[in-house]
Amino acid sequence: MGLYYCYYVVLCLVFGLVEKLVNLCKLDVLVDFLESNFGHFIIGLNDTRPKETAPTDSVSKSEVEHLAKMVTFWWDKQGPAKMLHTFYQVRVPLVVEGLAETGRISKADVSKTDSLKGIRILEAGCGGGVLAEDLARLGAYVVGVDPGQEMIYLAKEHVTTHSSKLKDSVEYHAITVEEHARKFAETYDAVVCSEVMEHVDEKESILRACVKCLKPGGSIFITTESKTMLAWFLWIVTAEYILRYIPKNTHFYEKFIKPEAISSILSKYGCQTQRVRGIFYDRPSNSWRFIENQYCNYGLHAVKR
Ligand SMILES: C[S@@+](CC[C@H](N)C(=O)[O-])C[C@H]1O[C@@H](n2cnc3c(N)ncnc32)[C@H](O)[C@@H]1O
Repeated sequence: MGLYYCYYVVLCLVFGLVEKLVNLCKLDVLVDFLESNFGHFIIGLNDTRPKETAPTDSVSKSEVEHLAKMVTFWWDKQGPAKMLHTFYQVRVPLVVEGLAETGRISKADVSKTDSLKGIRILEAGCGGGVLAEDLARLGAYVVGVDPGQEMIYLAKEHVTTHSSKLKDSVEYHAITVEEHARKFAETYDAVVCSEVMEHVDEKESILRACVKCLKPGGSIFITTESKTMLAWFLWIVTAEYILRYIPKNTHFYEKFIKPEAISSILSKYGCQTQRVRGIFYDRPSNSWRFIENQYCNYGLHAVKR
């Protein structure tokens, strides 16, 4: 157990206690009032950028434009996005083990190098294609969709020039998940939506579209930050303002979502949550692992009936 993990545990206890006290003393109404009226005085709480009056599906133009600026360093494994390149340590097992648990792949194949052979996956919000390539490398056929034109251009360029062995196993489209779902209902064995929910205001819209694309019995996998003080402190205050390894205004507390809120939306569209796994990012060693505690980052697996 490293020093950084001890620090994380202490923060969990402190912030968890504060949140418990707020709930116990029924101060949540007061906190909600303060958040909505004075939230702009607290860093990273609310997204004060202008909102479109008529957004296209779940897509927020300011979010996509902000993330598009990151294309310059997206594939730099030692650069500001280096955490994305080790994230496979938990994202890949989340998908592979989840598909084995539902019988979509055989349990005996989990540790094979082609464990996802024959599996068709949609990556909703694929960005520059890091996870899409990780999944394709295990034999899956991956379709990546993202509303960011620059991201899709980068993903296509990367697979053609740097991972040419995978070029027949992935395809990318600059399109919203909602638009894709109109043509490709019940097409995929799995839909993966990783590190996207925290950039979306209309969460129900994107989740409904993801579920629509799934075959009955197919799995949806989501990773994101929980809506807790700890996630605000680590991913906004620390990562964006103190250590500055993530550009400012990448995350806003108001957009974080707890696993139970995702489960509740998914169940409305016929999906049953199978498992939620806590995820821990060890910044000093740039490594990821599953932990019991789901208070900051988590991976959720649900299955369509
Ligand atoms: C942090 S990146 C994650 C990329 C990729 N999933 C990964 O983990 O490597 C977030 C991506 O979500 C996309 N995005 C933002 N809003 C979206 C929406 N409403 N629907 C689909 N994708 C969205 C952005 O364009 C961006 O590429």
